[in-house]
Amino acid sequence: MNKTDVLRPEEIAPLSSLDVWEDDLLARYPEPEKKAQEEYRNYDKPARDTVREFYRLNHQFQTYDFVQEKKAEFLRFDKKELPVWEAFDYLNTLVDDSDPDIELDQLQHLLQTSEAIRADGHPDWFVLTGLMHDVGKVLCLFGEPQWAVVGDTFPVGCQFSDKIVYPELFQLNPDSRDERYNTKYGVYEPNCGLRNVHMSWGHDEYLYHMMKDYLPEPALYMIRYHSFYAQHREHAYEHLLDDHDREMFEWVKKFNPYDLYSKSPKPPVVAELKPYYSALLAKYLPPVIRL
Ligand SMILES: [Fe+2]
Ligand SMILES: [Fe+2]
Repeated sequence: MNKTDVLRPEEIAPLSSLDVWEDDLLARYPEPEKKAQEEYRNYDKPARDTVREFYRLNHQFQTYDFVQEKKAEFLRFDKKELPVWEAFDYLNTLVDDSDPDIELDQLQHLLQTSEAIRADGHPDWFVLTGLMHDVGKVLCLFGEPQWAVVGDTFPVGCQFSDKIVYPELFQLNPDSRDERYNTKYGVYEPNCGLRNVHMSWGHDEYLYHMMKDYLPEPALYMIRYHSFYAQHREHAYEHLLDDHDREMFEWVKKFNPYDLYSKSPKPPVVAELKPYYSALLAKYLPPVIRL
């Protein structure tokens, strides 16, 4: 039986919405010029407690075996076939009305990210990456628990870094007591390259596999590692990266501010943007994507 089949409801959705995780990221990594300003709106104590509970579950259950199990289950892409715009509509059914925060739906976050990238004159595949980067969150709609969809990602199969958020919660993870996995390199070789490393399971890894035949490599790095804050912000896993990863991580770093800091209360007008993005999607992606 699949480990996630036996979870209680509060273990599936500890956060009132996925945005709570992203608000927490903003509080941890505020936009440099806004650092001195008052705390992010609604970033109150109860929200922090649910974030901690979210990471308790994430850090406890994201084991090496769990990742292999989820890859076997989801990388077959046999769940659903959808035209890309319908995938956005599908993703938007995730919106949680109980969140008192300014509510932008998932497509609006994607469009704000991609529009900020476009406004800075980046190549069109970079813009497209902004549009697609969170589509992997559709995993939630297949009943997957929040902690197996979002949250900071990290390598499994080797020692968990103390630079990962809430590192003490990894004591709950059985891999931290398994000598195959709890050494600096674990099952990996020094500087073996991230292509040989299994990351904790979530929307990043899932979407990477969905997109890997269609987008240029820097785009794929941005997608696959955009939640790997322990590396792109904290540099905690230099010992697993090779030179190629280091070169590609410049793109991951370039992407991150667009994801974190492009949120504005003014929602983009989807109808106005749709012609441009439809053409962009048609240029790179097949008309139908498989989930
Ligand atoms: Fe994301
Ligand atoms: Fe995002």
